[in-house]
Amino acid sequence: MTPVAERPASLSFVPSSRPPLTIVRGEGASLWDASGRRYVDLGASHGVGNLGASHPDVVRAVQRQAAELLFLGSGYEVPVRTEFLARLTALLPPALDRVFLSNSGTEAVEAAIKFARATTGRSRVVAAMRAFHGRTMGSLSATWRKEFRDGYEPLVPGFVHVPYNDADALRAAVDETTALVLLEPVQGEGGVHPATPEFLATARRRATETGSLLAFDEVQTGLGRTGRMFAFERWGVVPDVLTLAKSLAGGVPIGATITTEAVQARFRGSHHSTFGGSPLACAAGVAALEVTVRERLAERAERLGSMARERLSHLPPEKVREVRGLGLLVGIEMRERVAPYLARLEERGFLAIPAGPTVLRLIPPLVIDEEDLRAGLDAVEEVIGRG
Ligand SMILES: Cc1ncc(COP(=O)(O)O)c(C=O)c1O
Repeated sequence: MTPVAERPASLSFVPSSRPPLTIVRGEGASLWDASGRRYVDLGASHGVGNLGASHPDVVRAVQRQAAELLFLGSGYEVPVRTEFLARLTALLPPALDRVFLSNSGTEAVEAAIKFARATTGRSRVVAAMRAFHGRTMGSLSATWRKEFRDGYEPLVPGFVHVPYNDADALRAAVDETTALVLLEPVQGEGGVHPATPEFLATARRRATETGSLLAFDEVQTGLGRTGRMFAFERWGVVPDVLTLAKSLAGGVPIGATITTEAVQARFRGSHHSTFGGSPLACAAGVAALEVTVRERLAERAERLGSMARERLSHLPPEKVREVRGLGLLVGIEMRERVAPYLARLEERGFLAIPAGPTVLRLIPPLVIDEEDLRAGLDAVEEVIGRG
């Protein structure tokens, strides 16, 4: 047998001050290390794990599909892909019925940018400060944080950023040269900031007035996370383009860029992905959507998220600036760096993640046991202190 190396040969390209924990197994919101110690997952792999680790329905679907037809290019019809697309579009407003499938969030955003440019014949993209849309060159050009962009210039020209939730600035920035207005309805990586109704309504109005496309990036917020199947439902603003990824196939890589017949009819270009829409990802996607709907995970996220934010509203103001979020996407903005608090949570067996340097993000699997979530909130209270 090949010996197992003690350290991985290929380390992450994200700078990190300490070695990561090694996890060997998962079930629901429980993760175990090699010594058998259980951790409660409050990070859900940045939102991939809405259904927890290895949901049995997804595992069964993957096993069955892998044995039947693991891969076939998108040049052929495959029943499981047809079924997946039907199930996905049935959850969306009727106009959003054209789906391009890829393999990740950044690819879903790249497609949105390309569709907008090749539909409008314009190049300008208006995004928001603090936005995160991915790390390939197009999506990175829409991403805001300097540390993600540094070292890669020149990025793609034509991108501008306006302050998030500043409706006047957005109104002024979107004009007849704009191809795309690209926004997260709740900024995730940027610190968990929900949009104001006015900001999204202005985006919709200005995009329509100027003939640009409006895209909502719901790679992190989609599929029940914010207490609605899609976060935009809360504001009643329907985009021309919607991007999804992360939890869409229950942990199997996938990306989706969904748009309208009108956009597709005006599209003058060519775009494709070899692995996009693989039968394996589609089978996992069918199972994941089935579980999400059947178990009413959006409603669960709404209920548990309200409970969590109510509990966290009592944290001491001298330590905590604000608690924000929607559903089970919760941000605790600290007055200092968050890394030591995350380390103390890990010592107690709870794995949360940051959203920028000072925000502690709680984004647990939507299937988390209520008891585990309450224990996690107790631990947060313990490491931050009570008010
Ligand atoms: C809103 C949003 N868009 C795009 C991405 C990029 O997704 P991926 O890491 O799958 O490329 C992310 C990832 O965190 C995200 O949160």
